[in-house]
Amino acid sequence: KATLADLAQRHGRYFGSATDNPELTDVPYTKILGHEFDSITPGNGMKWYATEPQQGVFDFTAGDEIVNLARANHQKVRGHTLVWHSQLPDWLTGKEWEADELRAVLKNHIQTEVRHYRGKLYAWDVVNEAFNEDGTYRETVFYKTLGPGYIADALRWARQADPRVKLYLNDYNIEAIGPKSDAYYKLAKELKAQGVPLDGVGFQAHLALQYGYPTTLEDNLRRFSRLGLDTALTEVDVRMLLPATEEKLAEQAQWYADMTDACLAVRRCVGITIWDYTDKYSWIPAVFPGEGAALPWDEQLKPKPAYFALRNAL
Ligand code: XIL
Repeated sequence: KATLADLAQRHGRYFGSATDNPELTDVPYTKILGHEFDSITPGNGMKWYATEPQQGVFDFTAGDEIVNLARANHQKVRGHTLVWHSQLPDWLTGKEWEADELRAVLKNHIQTEVRHYRGKLYAWDVVNEAFNEDGTYRETVFYKTLGPGYIADALRWARQADPRVKLYLNDYNIEAIGPKSDAYYKLAKELKAQGVPLDGVGFQAHLALQYGYPTTLEDNLRRFSRLGLDTALTEVDVRMLLPATEEKLAEQAQWYADMTDACLAVRRCVGITIWDYTDKYSWIPAVFPGEGAALPWDEQLKPKPAYFALRNAL
C-alpha cells in the first residue's frame, strides 16, 4: 500500500514527521516513522541548548542520531533550528551581552553547526519565530542586542557554511494573511531585493480547532511563491479541547485535507511535515493543558480519520 511519502512524491512533494531522540527506542514507533515518511525533523536535538551546552563546546550527538536514522531510511532532514529565543543554554540567557560579543557567539554557533551538517540536510530553519503577532519584531536577546539585521547576518553566515542547503525563516500563526504573515512577506521581499540568501518560508501550522481554519492559507503561500521562495508546512498539528469526539476528529481530518490541498495547489509549496505523527509523542498536552489529540495517529499508533483524509487529499 502506498505511504504518505509515496503519495506526496507523485506530486513532487515530500511528506515528513518530526521525531525526538527519546522515542527512537520505541520499535513499533520507529517502524512507522521509517516507512511512512520521506523527511524527518529533529524536534529538539539540533536546538542551541542541545548543540552548544557550554559556550564554544559543541555536542551533535542527538542531531547525528536523527541524521543517521534518516540516512538508513533514505529520508531528507530539515534542520531545526539555529536562531530562536527559546530553548537557549543558560550561559547565553544568563548574562548581558555586548553587541560585538554576541555577534561573534551567534556567528560561531551558526557556522559550527551548519558546517557539521554540511551536505547532510535538505534545509535549515535558520531563524525561528522572529515576529510578534502584531508584526513587530520579537524582542529576543538577538534583536535587542544586534537589531533586526541579525536575520540577514544569520542567513549569510549559514550560506557561507553550506552553499547548498535551503535556508528558511519559520514561524507559527502565519498561515493566514494578517499582520504577522505580512511582516514576513515584507521582510522576505526586502531580503530578496538585498540579495540575502533566503530560500524559503516555513509555516509551522500549529492549528487549533477552537480558533478556526486559516482560509487564506493557499493565497498566502502563493504570494510568497511569487517572491521566488519555496514554502513548506513545517510543524503541522491540529489540536482540540479534550475529550476528542467523533465530530472533532472528523473536523480535524478535514483540516488536514484542506492544508494538503492548499500546499498542492501552490507550485512552490515543497512539502508538509507533521510535528511528530502520533498523539503518543505530541508536544501539545504538556504545553496546552486540556488540549491534545492533534496528530493523524492516536496514542496506540492507530491511524485516525486525519490519516485517511491525508491519503485522500494526496
Ligand atoms: C517543541 C518540542 O516538540 C518539545 O519537545 C519541546 O519541549 C518544546 O519545543 N515551535 C517550534 C518547535 O518551532 O521547536 C517546538 O517544538 C514547537 C513549537
